[in-house]
Parts: sequence; structure tokens; C-alpha cells
Amino acid sequence: MRAIQITESGGPEVLIPTELPDPTPGPGELLVEVAVAGVNYIDTYQRQGIYPMQLPFVPGMEGAGRVREVGAGVTGFATGDRVAWANTLGGYAELAAIPADDAVPVPDGVSDEAAVGAALQGMTAHYLLHDSHPVRAGEDVLVHAAAGGVGLLLTQWATRLGARVIATVSTAEKEELARGAGAAEVIRYTEVDDLAAEVRTLTGGAGVAAVYDGVGRDTFDASLASLARRGILVLFGASSGPVPPVDPQRLNAAGSLFLTRPKLHDHIATRDELTARAAAVYAAVAAGELDVRIGHRYPLAEARTAHEDLQSRRTTGKLLLQP
Ligand SMILES: NC(=O)c1ccc[n+]([C@@H]2O[C@H](COP(=O)([O-])OP(=O)(O)OC[C@H]3O[C@@H](n4cnc5c(N)ncnc54)[C@H](OP(=O)(O)O)[C@@H]3O)[C@@H](O)[C@H]2O)c1
Repeated sequence: MRAIQITESGGPEVLIPTELPDPTPGPGELLVEVAVAGVNYIDTYQRQGIYPMQLPFVPGMEGAGRVREVGAGVTGFATGDRVAWANTLGGYAELAAIPADDAVPVPDGVSDEAAVGAALQGMTAHYLLHDSHPVRAGEDVLVHAAAGGVGLLLTQWATRLGARVIATVSTAEKEELARGAGAAEVIRYTEVDDLAAEVRTLTGGAGVAAVYDGVGRDTFDASLASLARRGILVLFGASSGPVPPVDPQRLNAAGSLFLTRPKLHDHIATRDELTARAAAVYAAVAAGELDVRIGHRYPLAEARTAHEDLQSRRTTGKLLLQP
């Protein structure tokens, strides 16, 4: 099969198109013909070695396609089923052997592309808004990088839940997308001197109840300073780099704040939680309540370009690889 393989950690240039033997499904696994693979920021952390990986490996945590073969002991799936997954390596390939426990069925009303667009990033938006900080109707929340893959879904869903979303983005094109997703206010954070002061102005001085921050290093201080008393900073990523160590006293001084650093893995840790979360997200997609915006489709061999674009802030919405 054709696949992308990483044999050493590094920049996008280590994403090498190659030919590998077709995988065979082990016990408990499904062999899937990958129709679409998702590109996510975590792929760049793994490629760079920020998250240590065993080399060599085929990257990509997410994909969708049809089951070609079912491994021994698998129940609940059959050849020909459409499935998606968001928590297993090996998506950047024509074929992937994935644990059946990590696969979810894709309903008829959801395309392969939407299934991938709403898998990792959709389930992330779901747990951030329902578990990390359950948003309440009428409250103000701040969503950083609102035109990104997670950002557009967060903005849409928070708005649908009744929150008033203040979004940050870097360009006019991204501002338009954030507004289209429902953001009530948009700040071009690359163009303002004091982001927290802008947020205070937009909230009558009160600050926001929650900040959803996947940007990390560059926004962390402003995120804390944007919170209302007893507000929560949900730090879920580091697209600008990791946040340095934090003195807990800062949370006290800024108004008894909360800080959490969650990850999807812990929110789909059981089979029941995974299937329930996926079903909730796919139901919203099928009902037209959640629009998955495909920002760009790349041939599999151009995975390198996809990573370059993602890390250069050139992209919006979901990035897909087509094997
Ligand atoms: N914890 C979890 O469970 C979880 C799950 C999924 C994703 N994530 C995290 O969520 C974040 C978003 O992921 P995504 O895949 O949807 O990516 P994305 O938001 O589509 O792309 C990253 C965006 O971050 C913004 N950004 C700000 N400073 C940047 C910088 N110095 N370099 C690059 N980008 C910068 C850019 O938007 P602007 O140009 O508008 O600034 C860029 O488009 C990532 O941090 C990812 O790790 C976490």
C-alpha cells in the first residue's frame, strides 16, 4: 500500500511517501480502506517528537473508510461497514488496521469527509463544551483561533448552546468565517496591543466565564486576564508553543480562577463514552446543526504541504488527505 512514513523526528520534510506491505488485521482489529484521513495539530507534535513516538511510524490519528476485513474476535462490525476513528495511529495510508474498540459506525447521512471532519475535532468540541466547562445560555466565552478546525466547530456549537462567543483570529478571511460560525464579536488578536482589555471592553468590564484556548504560549497570559471572577481557562492545545510552568498563586490573584488542561483521549476512554460522543456529534452533523468546513484536500503524497500550511497559519477548517 501507499503510505506516509516517519523514520526520524523533524520538520514536515520527514513525512515521506513510501510503499509498505498491506497490514493484516490482528485479533480485535479491523482492516479499513481509508477513504479520507484527517490532519490534526497533534500529528505535528508527534512528527516533531514533542510527543515521543516509537520510530518508524505511519502518522495520522484519524480516518474514515470501509471495512475490508474483520479480525478474529471482533463483534459488531462486518465487511463493508463504514467506520471512522480518531484515536489510533496509521491514518496516512491506503489501508489501516485499527482496533475495533476505537472505531465508530458512520451513519448514512454523514459523508466520509464530514465523518473525519467531525471525529477528532468534533468530539473535542463536544467534550470541551459539555465537560471541561459546560457552557450556559447567555454567558460570554472566548474562543481562540476560531477559524481553525476545532475553532469553527467550537464557535458553532457554543453559539447553538446559547453562549455569546467572542472569537480571535489573525486575518480578515478568518474573521468572516468566525462570524459565519456564529461569533458575536471577533478580535484580530495579531493586531491589538492588549487582547484582555479588548475582551473587557466587549463584556462591560466583567470578563468572560470561560476561555477555550488551543493556541497556548502566545495567548495564555491574555486568556487568564480575560476571565471573570471564578472563570475557567480551558487550555486544550499549543499551536503557538507550550505554556511555561505556571504559579498557582496567579489563579488566586486573578479572581479564584480555574485552569484545566484536558485531552480527548480521557473523554473517549470507555467504549460507551466514545460511541455516545461520536453519535452526538454525527447526529448534529446529519441534522445540519453542525457544519464541517473542509478547508483543503491534499493528495496523500502531499502530507508534507498539509503540515507546512497548518503550522504556517495558512489554513482554515478541516484539512484532509486523500489516499
Ligand atoms: N486537547 C485536545 O483534546 C485537543 C484535541 C484536538 C485539538 N487540540 C488542539 O487544538 C488546537 C487546534 O487544532 P486544529 O487541528 O484545529 O488546528 P487549527 O486551529 O486549524 O490550526 C491552528 C491555528 O492556531 C492559530 N495559531 C495561533 N498562533 C499560531 C502559531 N504561532 N502557529 C500556528 N498556528 C497558530 C492559527 O489561527 P489564527 O491564524 O487565526 O491565529 C492556526 O490556524 C491545537 O493546539 C491542537 O493541539 C487539542
